[in-house]
Amino acid sequence: MENLRVLILAAGKGTRMKSGKAKVLHQVGGATLIEHVVRAARSVSSDVLVVVGHQADRVKSLLTDVVFVDQTEQLGTGHAAMSARDALKGFSGELLVLPGDVPLIGGDSLEQFVQFHRDGGYAASVLTAEIADPFGYGRIVRRSNNDVDSIVEQRDASPEILKICEINSSIYVFDTVSLFEALTRVRNENSQSEYYLTDVIGILTSRGQKVGAYKTGAPVEILGINTRQELAAIDRFLRNQKCEVLMADGVTIMDPESTFIDLDVQIGRDTVIHPSVQLERGTVIGEDVTIRSFSRITNCRIGSRSKVLESCVLVDSDIGEDVSVGPFAHVRMGTTLEDTVRVGNFVEIKKSRLGRGTKSGHLAYVGDATVGKNVNVSAGVITANYDGKNKNETHIEDDAFVGTNSTLIAPVRVGSGAFVAAGSTITDDVPPEALAIARERQVLKEGRAPHRKKK
Ligand code: UD1
Ligand code: CA
Repeated sequence: MENLRVLILAAGKGTRMKSGKAKVLHQVGGATLIEHVVRAARSVSSDVLVVVGHQADRVKSLLTDVVFVDQTEQLGTGHAAMSARDALKGFSGELLVLPGDVPLIGGDSLEQFVQFHRDGGYAASVLTAEIADPFGYGRIVRRSNNDVDSIVEQRDASPEILKICEINSSIYVFDTVSLFEALTRVRNENSQSEYYLTDVIGILTSRGQKVGAYKTGAPVEILGINTRQELAAIDRFLRNQKCEVLMADGVTIMDPESTFIDLDVQIGRDTVIHPSVQLERGTVIGEDVTIRSFSRITNCRIGSRSKVLESCVLVDSDIGEDVSVGPFAHVRMGTTLEDTVRVGNFVEIKKSRLGRGTKSGHLAYVGDATVGKNVNVSAGVITANYDGKNKNETHIEDDAFVGTNSTLIAPVRVGSGAFVAAGSTITDDVPPEALAIARERQVLKEGRAPHRKKK
C-alpha cells in the first residue's frame, strides 16, 4: 500500500517462555515467529523495519530486505517504537506497528485494517478483538459515546476494567508524526516500570485526536504467543489449517492430528500421507506419491508416483519419479535419486547421484558417489569415502554390479558393465566389463570339521 511503512517490535526477551532463546526465534508451522510476521507485513508494504535487541544477531540472520533498528535496552513497547525515530526521520505517511509474536496475522486483515484507518481519518487506530478470556491482554477502554479513550494493561487495571473483553492486539496504524510526538510524553510510571506503547492512545485522545478501533472478525489471527502452551496451541492450529488446505486440494491425509506439514510444503493430488509423518520446509511432492508412517522429509523434491516407506529420513535431496525409498532408509544432503531408483532398508545415501533404474536394496552406505544407470549395489556395500582427512569420491558407471559386502576404497572407479565379486575390497579402478575379485581364496580341508569339534 502507498505511503505505508511497517514497524515490527521484536527486541523483547519473552520472559514467560522461560527460554535461552529470544521469543521471536521460536517456531510454529516450521518457521520462526518473526518470519511469519515479516511475511504478513510484506504483503502490505515493501518498507519493513524490525526493532531488534535480545539476540539481535540471530534475528538479523533470518531476515533479508528489512531495515533493522537496534533497541539495546528493552524498556518497553513504547521505548521500542521510539528506537525507530531516526530510521523514520522525514517520513510523514502511516506506520503499521506489529508485535513480533503474532504469527497468525494475515495480509488481508492488515490491508482491511489500514483501509479502515484511512477511511476514518484517524490519528491512530488499534486492531481489537472481543474474546471470552481476555486475561493478560491490554483492555480497550471506551467513553460513553463509544469512542476509544485509552488502553489499560492487565497488571495496571482496576477490577472494573478487567471485566472488559475487548482487547488490544498490539497491532496499530499511526500517523507517524503524531506517534513520535506522543511517544515523547510516555512515562514509565506503571507496575512494570516500562514505557508502554499503549499509553500513546490515551495521550492522543486526551489531546482531542481521534483514535479508531477496528474489531477483527477473525480473533484467532491476533493471538499472541507468550508461553510454551500458546506456542504449542498455535502450532497445532497452523498444522490443522495446512492439512485442511491440502485435503481440499486433493491430498489424502490419513490422520491430520499426527501429521506435521510445514506451511510452505507443496503436495500434488492423490498423494497419500500415512499417520505420523513430518514434511518440513522446502519440500515439494508430486502426484500419486505415498509417504508412509514415521518418515521425516526436509527440503526434498519428490517426483510423482514415488514411495517413501516407513521410518525414512530424507534431507536436502531430489528424488525422481517412480522411486522407492525405505523402509528405514536415510537419504542425506545433496543426493539425487533419478527416476525408478530403488533404495531399500538400512541403506544410507549421502551427497550422491544414483542413475535411473539403479538399485540398492539392503544395508549399504553410498557417500560422495556418482552411480550410473541400472547399477546393482548389493547388500552390505560400503563406499569408504573418508580417509580420516578428506572425503573422496567413488564412481560406479552404468550397468555395473557391485557384489555383496564389497568395500570400495575411494577415490576409485568401477567401469561400465564391470562386476565386483562379493566380499571384495576394491582399492584400484576396475575397467569397464572387467571382473574384479579382491579377497582370499577359500581353503577347503576335507573331513576336518569333526576333528575340530572334539578339541
Ligand atoms: C502487549 C500490549 C498489550 C497487548 C498485547 C497483545 C503493551 C504495553 N502491551 O503486551 O496491551 O494486549 O501486547 O499481545 O504494549 N518488545 C520490544 N521491546 C521491548 C518490549 C517488547 O521490542 O522493550 C516487543 C516484543 O519482542 C514483542 C512485542 O514487543 O514482540 C510485544 O511485547 P510483549 O512483552 O509480548 O507485550 P505483551 O505483554 O504481550
Ligand atoms: Ca505478547
